Amino acid sequence: MAVLEICHFPDDRVLRQKAKKVPAIDASIERLIDDMIETMQQARGVGLAAPQVGVSLRVIVLQMPGEEPIALINPEMVERSGEQDVTEGCLSVPGYYGHIRRPAEVVVKGKNRWGKASRIKASGLMAEALEHEIDHLNGMLYIDHVEDPENLHEIDPLVPLEHQPG
Ligand code: NI
Repeated sequence: MAVLEICHFPDDRVLRQKAKKVPAIDASIERLIDDMIETMQQARGVGLAAPQVGVSLRVIVLQMPGEEPIALINPEMVERSGEQDVTEGCLSVPGYYGHIRRPAEVVVKGKNRWGKASRIKASGLMAEALEHEIDHLNGMLYIDHVEDPENLHEIDPLVPLEHQPG
């Protein structure tokens, strides 16, 4: 496994591209997943999407605090409900955080790393992270959801954000 370099907005155009579907889960995809998990853990994020490491493919990894990491290949948002106000940052937009609104509950389907169909119903931080990472696959960043520039802030380096989507 290896820690990969994380792409930053606005320099890396891959962050604004719509990522391609993974045609088959082969050894290169398995290695990508392993490397993405290691990169996410080292950066202390709760999620990471492949375009953030320069790979325009529909692969995301997530790890909620105290839980095992998971990977989702070709994830699709199938249901959204409710609303939650969240304070969100992104490993690809260092130095900032914003106040935005996300669905409170989501249902996502995709494949796990072994190619098995997976359906996840999530709320709270997990719902936020799934939305955030799937946005990355569609070339979107959380800053696109910031309605008022007053809701975007610089991070105080003395008060790091905890449990942020990657
Ligand atoms: Ni992000």
